[in-house]
Parts: sequence; C-alpha cells; structure tokens
Amino acid sequence: MTNHKDWKFSTKAIHIGNKADKESGSVSPPIHLTSTFKQDAVGQTRGFDYSRVSNPTRQRLEENLASLDNAKHAICFSTGMAATTALFQLFDSGDHILISRNTYGGTYRMSMNVLRRQGIEFEWIDTRDTENVEKHIRPNTKLVHLETPTNPLLELCDLTAILNICKKHDILMSVDNTFMSPYGQRPLELGVDVVMQSSTKSLSGHSDILGGVLTTNDDELDERLRFLLKATGGVPSSFDNWILLRSTKTLGLRYQKSSDNATELAHWLADQDILDRVIYPGLKNHPQHEIALKQQKTPNGEVIFGNMISIDVGTIEARDRFLERLDVFTLAESLGGVESLVCVPYDMTHAAIPVKAKLELGITETLIRLSIGIEDVGDLKADLQNALKD
Ligand SMILES: Cc1ncc(COP(=O)(O)O)c(C=O)c1O
Repeated sequence: MTNHKDWKFSTKAIHIGNKADKESGSVSPPIHLTSTFKQDAVGQTRGFDYSRVSNPTRQRLEENLASLDNAKHAICFSTGMAATTALFQLFDSGDHILISRNTYGGTYRMSMNVLRRQGIEFEWIDTRDTENVEKHIRPNTKLVHLETPTNPLLELCDLTAILNICKKHDILMSVDNTFMSPYGQRPLELGVDVVMQSSTKSLSGHSDILGGVLTTNDDELDERLRFLLKATGGVPSSFDNWILLRSTKTLGLRYQKSSDNATELAHWLADQDILDRVIYPGLKNHPQHEIALKQQKTPNGEVIFGNMISIDVGTIEARDRFLERLDVFTLAESLGGVESLVCVPYDMTHAAIPVKAKLELGITETLIRLSIGIEDVGDLKADLQNALKD
C-alpha cells in the first residue's frame, strides 16, 4: 500500500474520504441521511450519536478537505458565514480583531452588526501594507484576519510577512482563502493558524450547494471550533456534504482551467481602451503582482492567478448595457463555479458596506466583478467583446 501522506493533490482529492463502502463495495460512498444513531446500550455508540455532533458523511468530507490544505483538522459548517462566525466566536468581549479592508461584505455585516454588539472590537485596515498591520496592533488584539486576494478589489497581502508580525506579538492569524481554494494557495503550510473557506465557491464549483470550512493544525483550536459548531448548530446537511465530497474530486482541473481562462481574458481586457480599470493579480501593472508570484502556487509549485477579474466600465449606462448584452455570463451573486458569473459588488455582494467606505475603497457603482468559469475561452471572449461594444 502506498503512503497516503505522499499522495499528490489530485490523488488525495479523489481518494481521501472516498474509500469504497465496506458493506456493499459501492465505489461512491453512501450518504448518511440520518439525524441520530442507534446505541447498542446506554452510551454505547458505534462512534456517532447525533448528526449535529458528527456524521459519517461529514467526517469523510472533513478528512478530504483537511488533506487538500495539508491540515490536521477540518471542521465543516453550513455556510462560509457560519464558519467565519465560529472563528470570531473564539474571542471574548473586549478582544480586538484586525481585518483586511474590502473583504466580503457579509463578513463586514456579521462582525459589525452582530458580534460587535456582543463586545468584540473589529477594525478594518489596509493589509497590503505590512507595517500598517503592526501599527494597528493593540494590547487586546487577538486575531488578524486576512483575505488575499480581497473581494472584489483583488488586493493582496504578504502572508509570510504578516505572519511574522503576528508571531512576534503572539496573535493568531487566519486567512479567508475562498478566492484561491487549496489548489491555488495553502496558507497553513506557511504556519497560519486557521484557514477559512466558503465551500459554496470553487471547492464545490457548480453553484449548487452552500458550505463553509475551517482548517487548522492546532489541536486545541480544532477542539474549541468543533465545540462551537456543536453548541451553536450551524452544521451542513449530509446531502450537501456528499455533493461537496464529489465536487472536490475535480477541484484541480476546474480551478486550473478557470484560472487559465481568467488570465487570458484579463490580458485581453487590459488591451480594451474602453475600460477604466482592469484588476487582476496576473497583470504586471497589478500593484501586488510580485506577491502573487511569491505566494499563489498550485500544489506543483506553479504560479496561478485565480479565476476572478474586476473591471470598471466608467458609467452606469455602459454598465447596464454591458450586463444586458451578456449571454454566456449570468448576472448573479457568488463565484467559483464552472459557469461564468458577473456581479456589481456595490449593489450586490457589498450592499452591507456603508456607501462612503465603498467609494473610498474604489468599489464604485460601475465596478463589475467577473467570476470566470470553465467554458470555452473563445466563447467567453466573444461574449465580453459583444457586451463591451459602443
Ligand atoms: C471571500 C468570501 N468569504 C466568505 C463568503 C461567505 O460564504 P457563504 O456565502 O458560503 O456564507 C463569501 C461569499 O460570497 C466570499 O466571497
């Protein structure tokens, strides 16, 4: 038998958590659609007692997702937001959390409107500048939560440099890795404490389920996060877990293809004079292009720039005309699916952020976020070309 620890990314994605069923030999593992488990006598379980606590399908998914991040533990939640909420609930009233500015709008909504009321202090800062992170650390700072690239401006920060600062000050560091997926970036390998992902996005990749996951190498954090999941109950359904377990088998193929498509389209878009801004970490004029070259790598060590592009079409008329003419791209929230999507973060994903803050960041009404899928790149280009025509 080969050592599973030596398996490469795609072998792990397909086989870890997917062993054939012991009883029937079914190559595709069964779904355990059950809320509870028979006990042979009081307290004598066969490893499971109630599905909020654990379930064989969720356990297999957690093994699979942990292996993709090279993590010791993965804890699965019903949505990405449930995962981020549990991560922040590790902290107490009076604790201070620093967060990358322009992270996903829902993270802002939850922290500022829910957990802040319960006494946790949140501060949103520009994490592109490593020194700026250190400047904002206070005696009560307990966590630095980063998103790189951010949603939707695709700002990057230097994970290793910020991690060194966190270690120096004995502060935990977490990363929302939703945009890159474990195929494009594995922050735990650098020593980051917790990685969060919305598995609704590239991990599942078919715009059909919701999910969230936290991964960590720290046994104590795993225990505390698992306790929070059990206590607060934001668990995913077995059906969604099974779909996700099936979907990660093709994560490498899907992510590589969608990123290749995005890289080609971003270069083409950058040549269109009609656009005010084209933001993509793979473009040489992206202010943190060098950071992308350093930390965004496939499991084989090749640089990868991701499947998200943001563009600015300049006027509301041009925006509405562009959106109306698109045929292959669908106007919808979310990202990371096999199908290309387009959205206006100002009104959609980032509606919860105050207008002044959005405009200061550069999230204008005419900024459009493109999530590139795995369709034929020629068809995507033709669709964009037709929509951009005067
Ligand atoms: C970067 C990022 N983090 C977290 C979330 C929240 O995930 P979910 O919608 O699964 O709750 C999203 C959703 O769009 C996201 O884009």
